[in-house]
This record gives sequence, structure tokens and C-alpha cells, in this order.
Amino acid sequence: MRRNQMRIMKALGLSLLMGLSSLANAQDTTFDTRHLANEQNILSVQVAQKYLLLPVEDNAPTGKVVIVVNNRPVGEAFDIRLARQHVDYYVPVDLSNYLGKTIAVDIQGLPASAICWKNIRFSEMFDQTNREKFRSTYHHTPAYGWMNDPNGLFYKDGVYHLYFQHNPYGSTWGNMTWGHSTSTDLIHWDFEGDAITPDAWGAIFSGSAVVDHENTAGFGKGAIVAFYTSAKSTPWGGSQSQSLAYSLDNGKTFIKYDKNPILTSSEPDFRDPKVFWYAPGKHWVMMLAVGQEMQIYSSKNLKEWKQESSFGAKQGAHGGVWECPDLVELPIEGTKEKKWVLICNINPGGPFGGSATQYFVGSFDGKRFVNETPTETKWLDWGKDNYATVTWNNAPDGRCIALGWMSNWQYQAVLPTLQYRGTNTLPRDLSLYKHDGDYFLKSTPSPEVEKARGERQDFPSFKVSDPYEIESLLPQNDGAYEIEMTLHNDGASKIEMSLFNEQGEKLLMYYDIPREQFVMDRSESGETNFSENFPAITVAPASDTDKIHLRLFIDQSSVEAFGEDGEYVMTNRIFPSSPYNRMTFHADRGSFTIQSLHIYKLK
Ligand code: FRU
Repeated sequence: MRRNQMRIMKALGLSLLMGLSSLANAQDTTFDTRHLANEQNILSVQVAQKYLLLPVEDNAPTGKVVIVVNNRPVGEAFDIRLARQHVDYYVPVDLSNYLGKTIAVDIQGLPASAICWKNIRFSEMFDQTNREKFRSTYHHTPAYGWMNDPNGLFYKDGVYHLYFQHNPYGSTWGNMTWGHSTSTDLIHWDFEGDAITPDAWGAIFSGSAVVDHENTAGFGKGAIVAFYTSAKSTPWGGSQSQSLAYSLDNGKTFIKYDKNPILTSSEPDFRDPKVFWYAPGKHWVMMLAVGQEMQIYSSKNLKEWKQESSFGAKQGAHGGVWECPDLVELPIEGTKEKKWVLICNINPGGPFGGSATQYFVGSFDGKRFVNETPTETKWLDWGKDNYATVTWNNAPDGRCIALGWMSNWQYQAVLPTLQYRGTNTLPRDLSLYKHDGDYFLKSTPSPEVEKARGERQDFPSFKVSDPYEIESLLPQNDGAYEIEMTLHNDGASKIEMSLFNEQGEKLLMYYDIPREQFVMDRSESGETNFSENFPAITVAPASDTDKIHLRLFIDQSSVEAFGEDGEYVMTNRIFPSSPYNRMTFHADRGSFTIQSLHIYKLK
């Protein structure tokens, strides 16, 4: 959810404008447009208002735009699918630096017949109003444009910072930039604009940020230092290297280090730096994803890095490239012990196809990570839509808070949204628990989620031997709620519960007791046919099912199931035509008792 748009609207008493419906505020400017050979076009324009609004058609071929001032390009060229036949939505180009000046816009790859030419306009405002029915209510989404991985997560002075892989010029992947959002409660987010934009070394791929409390880098005490991959594409295939930028205003704006890139390699997949402070060794550690291994580096000053080791050969799943590493030390529940967990995102090669997050539990001495139970592949989430999971640096109270991108590379580009594409998971507090002599991650919904609870419905306890139905979960169900229940099994071999909407679309869930599994089937959950990889049945291990505690978080186009406070988690996107508001229960063989059932609206 995003708050600043509301504030702006209140403050200005205006309805902000944007897209297709309300362009009343936009200025009718006559542009001097010249169409040259081979679909090159030059638009000469006197900058009248802050934003140049460019009309996009999502399925149009990609062209290029360059802003030209005094015959020189300023900033990097960007890719965009400008409207040819119809306008799907607008994207803003902030030209406030050139107000009153005459500049040129070089537009390549667009025919003179395109509808775009009649629709380009200036505006003082860019409307970010949340209009799309599938946009999450209590999960972070980008104000507009495409989003993938969370980046640069850090906490300072009561504020959580969340940067993200952002395309500000369209709702498909491209022009990778770090968008920036902030929150004081991990649930309600303000969009702060784009913080790190592409440069001569390439697009800005994923990475992390630290608070340099002791000024080890010399940029200043408390400077925020961000590390990202500079991804340069060239006609010869491109390269990846690591770069650094620092912020002296708590992450709002960044200054790029003048000796970038700081770490180069001849490996083609060399990316996603995760940097953290290793207190016992008084040094910084950088994890890097390199092909199908993670490399570990160390540094005293954040600028010069030395490779210490690598991890990955013969460990875990290798069905795809390894990406977005993390390494955290976590307490083991019920003990005073701690262990290190190496988080490894992999795409493809997930348990249900496409992207997923695996992890390894072991020890770390500041230089080398050792996986202590190499026999089993461990998955952090058992759904299809939890990827690029990383954790917050400098989190308060010793907490380890993780966030994922709630999607899968198999179909993210065709999800049925328009002006934006991409949603994050709920924030989750990580810890470890022991089961059958082995250690597993526990992902508990961060306690802040409870503060977002609103109106509540309680249902008295009931026994299910014959099918049981709750006709209405909430009197006014707007698609954003939590279902929390405890149940006791009295010999049923299958405990089934399904959610339905008015259209009869259903989300089927059940516990298969003999197999010790929690299962979710989204194949009839709503819109599913945009990708053959979308309809899916996902399965999580769930033992000790005599007594079950389950929390289900539904938010417009997602469901997250947390069993036993996060001992197993399953995250899946869903696109129902209307909110599910009916729930049915069914037992095979014996019976079960729903001992408590609460529904909370979340806002
Ligand atoms: C993971 C990833 C990263 C890369 C980024 C590019 O989803 O492929 O490895 O840095 O996305 O957007």
C-alpha cells in the first residue's frame, strides 16, 4: 500500500491525473515533430510543465528515447514501447531541470503513423492512484511500472528502506533502475522516486545497502553505501560488474563512486552483491552470485574487496542460475545457539517450476561458509511465487526480516495488470527450528502485520464430519484479509478447506495426513490462462498434523499460507474475478474440529 498519493491528494485537494480517463490537467502543447528516415523522429519542445507524459502500448515493439540538450544526450537512452494503435497507460519523464528551455527528444523506432504523436503531452502531475483491481492493498507494489527483486534493504532512524528493480518506462522488464520506497511499519509504503539510475557502466541490477556507522569507507559517519551490479549490454553480449554509490541524505539521493566499477570479472553471470558487517572479524563481507556458485569476499573499507572462498559445488539444487544471495546468523528456537543460513535464489529449477529460494544451514567464520547438512535441498517457501528473497541490513532489535518478490520469471511479464507489474511478499521474521535432528527456517509474518488488522469476524468452534460451509466470511469483503484458525484432527485422512467467490472460482487447500503434506491448488482460482505455467498444485511438508495452526493472508491477487507460525510457508499469486468470501470444509474418513476461526480485514 502506498500512502503519499493520499497525502498529496489531500494537501492539494486535487484529483491527480494520469492515464486514460483524466488528462484534463495536461497542457495542450504543440510539439514541433520531424519524422526522419528509418523511424527516427525529433521532437523539439519548450518545457512547459514538470512531466512529459509518454503514451505506452504494452505490446508494441520497443523503441528508444534520448533527451537532447544543446545537441548532446543527457542521461542514458531508454527503451519504451510507445503507442502505435492505442494507449494503455502513460509514463512520466521528469523534465523539471529544463523548465522554460527548448530541448529535443530523439525518438527512434516509431513510425510517423503512430497514435503516440497525438497523445504526448506535458503535465504538472502524474497520477499514481491505485485503480487496478489486482493491485495489493497491504503488500508493497511499485507506484507504476515494472518491479522485480527487492534491493538495498536497510533500516535507519525508524525507517525501513526498500529499493527495487524498477522499469520507470513500462510494465515489462527493462531500463533497470533502483526505485525507492520507505515505511515505518513494513506494511504501508511511500514511493520516494527513483534513487539510482543507469549510467555508462550499464543498467542498475540487484544489490544491497549498508549503514557505514564507523565511516570505514570515508564517505562520512552513517553514510548509506549501496552496492549494485552494473549490467552493460553490448552487441558482443554484455558484461556484469559491481559498483558502489553512497548517500549522505539517508538513502534519498545517491552519489556514484568515481572509481566504479569496483569489482570486475570475465564471468558473464556475476551479480547481486549482498554486503554485511561481520562483527567478530571487524570486516565487511560481500556475497556474489556467480553462475551456479556463491562467492564470498571481504573488505575493510567497502571499496577494495578480496575473494575468500566460494560455495555451491554439489550443494542443493542446480536446475538454473544462482542469484540474489544472502547470509544471515539466526537463533535456533528454544536454545541459546545460533547458526548461519545461506539464502540462494535459483531460476529456473524451483520445486514447482521456474524461480524459487533455497537455503543452506551451517557455519561461517567470516570467510567460508560450510553447509552442515548437505543431504537435503531446503526450500524457504513452497509456493510458486516467492523469489529474490533477501533480508534487511541493520534491522532493529536483532531481528532478521526477509522480503521476496511475489512472482516467478515463468510468467511475470504476462500477469494481468497494466500500469504496474510486481508485488512483494509480506515481510517475514526469520529464525531456525530443529526437526528430526535437522535445522529448518521458520518464516513468521512480521508482527507489524497484526497492526494492519481492522474489523474482525469470529466463528464459534465447529466439528466437520459432513461437509460444512461458511457462506460469508466478511459482510463487506474487499479482497484484503487474514484467516487465522486452529484445528484438531480426529482421525480424518484429508482435511480440506476451499475458498470460493460468486463466480464459483475456487482456491482449494487440504492437508493430506498420510503423506504429511499441505497442498494448494490454484488451477480454478480465477484468471489462469495467461500462461500455461500458471495453473499449479503446490505442496509443502507438514508433519505433526494432530493440531494445526494456519494463517492465510489474501490480498487481491495473492495468498500466503503460514503453517505453525511459519514452519512451512506457501506463497501463490491468484487472480479471482471477485474476492473469495465463501469457505467450505470437508473431511475424508474421520472428522476434524475447527477450534477457532477469526477473519481480520487488513488495511
Ligand atoms: C533476479 C535477477 C537478478 C538481477 C535482476 C535483474 O530476479 O535476475 O539476478 O540482478 O534480476 O533485474
